[in-house]
Amino acid sequence: MFKIIFYIVVIAIIVISGASAYHLYQVKEKNKTEMANFKIEPTLHADLGNVLVVYYSWTGHTKEIAEQIAALTNAKTYEIKTIKQYSSPSVYMESKKELMSKNYPELEKGFKPNIADYDTIFVGGPVWWYTMAPALFSFLQKTDFKGARVVPFSTQGSNYGKFFEDFAANAQNADILISENFNNLTPEYNAQVKNKIITWLNNLSK
Ligand SMILES: Cc1cc2nc3c(=O)[nH]c(=O)nc-3n(C[C@H](O)[C@H](O)[C@H](O)COP(=O)(O)O)c2cc1C
Repeated sequence: MFKIIFYIVVIAIIVISGASAYHLYQVKEKNKTEMANFKIEPTLHADLGNVLVVYYSWTGHTKEIAEQIAALTNAKTYEIKTIKQYSSPSVYMESKKELMSKNYPELEKGFKPNIADYDTIFVGGPVWWYTMAPALFSFLQKTDFKGARVVPFSTQGSNYGKFFEDFAANAQNADILISENFNNLTPEYNAQVKNKIITWLNNLSK
């Protein structure tokens, strides 16, 4: 009996490791194909008026993208921060619970941007469980965009799921422009990521 259980566990480990290695390989190939479209740096001609970049970032990927958008559009940035501190690995279960119960984390008080001061507002964050990280839901619950032009963006491992659908359903009174999503990539792609951002910004001003 013990032998049978042992063999089942070994086979399960081999199958799971093989499936995840294959998944990683597929994501790597997909990233390579997508980023091949961004080898040449386009000239930036976007004019988006007075721009604000709002972001939530737990491990820094979204922050990096947000800062690049801000540098290219001469924008101010606003970082969404939760009072509670998530830690790993409990973040997975905690955030799953928050998303399922719609009981989103409280945000830090203090300075909050005045939406009316901006022509275009980028709002970005990480994909958690195929949707927005709970802190983004918290921010959207507290924000009335009053017809402002809002541009959502995400960062993720490989699958943004319903991030943008859920964003649109929760962004109150927002006029939503073209969104963009960014898979986490190794530094060898830094120039192409910048080119992807410029291409997107140019499309927004068309
Ligand atoms: C709790 C949790 C859930 C996640 N869920 C997903 C997911 O559903 N799809 C995905 O592609 N990546 C997922 N990721 C990976 C993050 O989206 C990705 O690493 C993101 O770029 C992190 O952004 P940040 O560094 O700004 O926090 C998840 C990460 C965490 C911590």
